[in-house]
Amino acid sequence: MRGRILASRAGLSASAREEAGRSLVHPLLELPELGMAGTVACYYSIGAEPDTRRLVYALWKRGTYVLLPLLLPDGDLEWASYEGPDSLVPGARGCMEPGEPTRGLDAVARADVVIVPAVAVDRNGNRLGRGGGSFDRALARVGPLIPVIALLYDDELVDDVPTEPHDRPVTAVARPTHGITPLPAR
Ligand SMILES: Nc1ncnc2c1ncn2[C@@H]1O[C@H](COP(=O)(O)OP(=O)(O)O)[C@@H](O)[C@H]1O
Ligand SMILES: [Mg+2]
Repeated sequence: MRGRILASRAGLSASAREEAGRSLVHPLLELPELGMAGTVACYYSIGAEPDTRRLVYALWKRGTYVLLPLLLPDGDLEWASYEGPDSLVPGARGCMEPGEPTRGLDAVARADVVIVPAVAVDRNGNRLGRGGGSFDRALARVGPLIPVIALLYDDELVDDVPTEPHDRPVTAVARPTHGITPLPAR
């Protein structure tokens, strides 16, 4: 499933990724949970992911404290603040990462909302990532009442995603055409 969806994403043009990212910004900014959030943990998109640069910028611009991950050699994630587009530096595996001092592995636990990447999510909120388990590790540090929103393309909310005990579910997905879909948190 991962290979099939990533192959399909690889066929998308840069403008399609940007357009998808642009469509996600408005429904997300309108979400009450995000409006009330003082701190949001997000991510800077890479490769064929829906583009998150506008979203991150818009959140920061309206005064939200935005945390972005730094990928560690073991696949775990540390977090540091986004302070505008010029505050980013090239990091591991082609990711743009915050150049600000790191707040450590546990900073994600202080986010009021967490926005995560996904390759697919199912109707129960089960999430398929890129296979590194990085966001499962981060979400293991996040409290059970914190909204966790995965960003997808339209056809990536599926009936069933295989899971293992370490997998952490999401509570909603955001898609370009369909907007926000809340999911039953297990
Ligand atoms: N909480 C965790 N602690 C340590 N390693 C983890 C944890 N969660 C996931 N992993 C590691 O990440 C690997 C990949 O996880 P997987 O769920 O398959 O990837 P993804 O969520 O990126 O699709 C797991 O096999 C496991 O070794
Ligand atoms: Mg997983």
